[in-house]
Amino acid sequence: MPLEKFVDPLPLPRVLQPKRRKGGVTYYEVAMRPTLHKAHRDLPLTLVWGYEGLYPGPTFEVRSGEHVRVKWKNELPVYRHLLPVDTTIHGAEPPNPAVRTVVHLHGANVAPDSDGHPEAWFTNGFRQTGPFFSTRVYDYPNIQPATALWYHDHALGITRLNVYAGLAGFYLIRDNIEDELNIPKGRFEIPLLIQDRSFNPDGSLAYPSGPDSGAGAVDGLPFPSIVPEFFGDTILVNGKAWPYLEVEPRKYRFRVLNGSNSRFYRTQLKLSDGRTVPVYQIGTDGGFIEQPVLLNEMILGPAERLDIIVDFSPYKGQTILMTNDAPTPFMPGGTEVMFPETREIMQFRVTLPLSGKDTTVIPDRITSIEWLTEEDAVRTRNLALVERTDQFGRLMLLLTDRRWSDPISEKPILDTVEIWGFVNTTPDTHPIHLHLVRFQVLDRQPFDVAEFERTGRVIYTGERSGPEVTERGWKDTVRANPGEVTRIIARFGDFAGVYPWHCHILEHEDHEMMRPYEVLKPHIKSSRRIVEVD
Ligand code: C2O
Ligand code: CU
Ligand code: CU
Repeated sequence: MPLEKFVDPLPLPRVLQPKRRKGGVTYYEVAMRPTLHKAHRDLPLTLVWGYEGLYPGPTFEVRSGEHVRVKWKNELPVYRHLLPVDTTIHGAEPPNPAVRTVVHLHGANVAPDSDGHPEAWFTNGFRQTGPFFSTRVYDYPNIQPATALWYHDHALGITRLNVYAGLAGFYLIRDNIEDELNIPKGRFEIPLLIQDRSFNPDGSLAYPSGPDSGAGAVDGLPFPSIVPEFFGDTILVNGKAWPYLEVEPRKYRFRVLNGSNSRFYRTQLKLSDGRTVPVYQIGTDGGFIEQPVLLNEMILGPAERLDIIVDFSPYKGQTILMTNDAPTPFMPGGTEVMFPETREIMQFRVTLPLSGKDTTVIPDRITSIEWLTEEDAVRTRNLALVERTDQFGRLMLLLTDRRWSDPISEKPILDTVEIWGFVNTTPDTHPIHLHLVRFQVLDRQPFDVAEFERTGRVIYTGERSGPEVTERGWKDTVRANPGEVTRIIARFGDFAGVYPWHCHILEHEDHEMMRPYEVLKPHIKSSRRIVEVD
């Protein structure tokens, strides 16, 4: 029985309260716990794992520059995972415990010890810890402008399962620039975490045990066996299946986040007569953009965020549908949408009376951005995205043709600027994410894939195109389209150390599409020249 859509109101995650504020430090504790969650009116309760027992997790509200410390605690079952664990995947092999967690604050400029390295995992009560574990309390200096970050699990080899189980939440950084903007605030600013899930009739979360959609073992494959991608048949927003939101005829600000494992969204706001409601983008992954842009559609790969303003004032009494037609798997020009019911996300109903005059505006100018240019870069790297097979013959995607545990090959020097070109030889788009840094998208350009595979040379075959309209600001995740070189530019800092970069399709990340990189401290010689050391 398909679930009836738009019968539940959109839930709003609650704001997390600190345990104490003392000596210039705001201190939080967050426990991961199993909990029963109501995902839809007609669905029995679902066992999920949530931060503070909530799905989505509670929202952090912090100031830029505020010194925040968080003790992340694992109060999850010791032995049994909620979902089928493939123990042939890196990090998930025995004797590693099945239930391991580590928290990554996605988009944060933090020291390596607090980054949530995939092998810095810990179990219930910190009884067991991974080889990179170094501290129970994480340090977040929030040395970055206002934006919407998100925190989620990052344990090596089971990130897809831990996030799917519910371990994700918003982390909002505020600053003075934001305060001074006369944009919708308070209850008119609403976070939207979009995720796809599938449910069993008893309400439990369904996640495949293998390519045979979970029915049984497939010859020659381990059981459970990782799947190349996961697409659910149900769209949840803030943990609710196809919710509706009642709004006033005025402006609202939405912080939109795609927290799905593999699914991309390409979305529009549609009136019942087919007209499109204008959406004004004011920010990217990394913060505000310089001036608002009017969007026809919003494309969000896994982990991408958009900060938008929608003015509902012309639509009193109307119902607006948030649509989706992103192909699965995602590639520009693709048409298949697995599970047609996922072509709808949620509804906005302009049914609330106006509670007061809407004096907010869509500002003409928002902020200024320091643009990085090719001349700033000390180095350009071409990094290939390639398709391989693993020891069981399963599709496995790699970065630079290396696995997670191979020696580190990318070692930018602290505070220098580099250009990274993602040379995508695969047939799909991969959302590539770097920890630590924010970057700018330089351009995309088609290249000769066959020639590259033969000789390793990049021969361009078409025009270079600049960043998409939604990408003209700071990003931490970029869509690398098939057959194109996607170039980004970043200053590597503010910290030295080892950080991951990876595809944010969680099934890819868990299956080797993740690499460590290391930011090296510069060694100042007497000549004061900076040299790279290995
Ligand atoms: Cu959103 Cu490495 O993660
Ligand atoms: Cu991240
Ligand atoms: Cu990928």
